[in-house]
Amino acid sequence: MAQHAVGLAADLPVGSMKAFRAGQERVVVYHLKGGFYATQAQCTHTFGPLARGEIVDGCQVRCPLHRARFDIATGQVVEWANFPPGIQLLDALRGERALRTYPVKVKDGKIMVTT
Ligand code: FES
Repeated sequence: MAQHAVGLAADLPVGSMKAFRAGQERVVVYHLKGGFYATQAQCTHTFGPLARGEIVDGCQVRCPLHRARFDIATGQVVEWANFPPGIQLLDALRGERALRTYPVKVKDGKIMVTT
């Protein structure tokens, strides 16, 4: 386990997210009303870039490719890939899988992610 300073908290207002490198990992850091969170950067479905998706309901991230939704705090799947129609055929190969999550702290204005 190692802690990485990935960016400045002031550059990530509430309701935003951004991709960073944290050591060997690519992560997305989210600033929600409840604080800072981090998940792996690629969707577990077929590697969609989550940072280009959307934060929905203030606590979930929706993948830009096939619209899977994940709970940001836990990484759990809320809704699996559902767009375009027929994408569910891939489920046999790419079944539901939660995102990895990482502990985040803010120290001296810096976002610190532990991987
Ligand atoms: S890659 Fe994210 S839903 Fe398909």
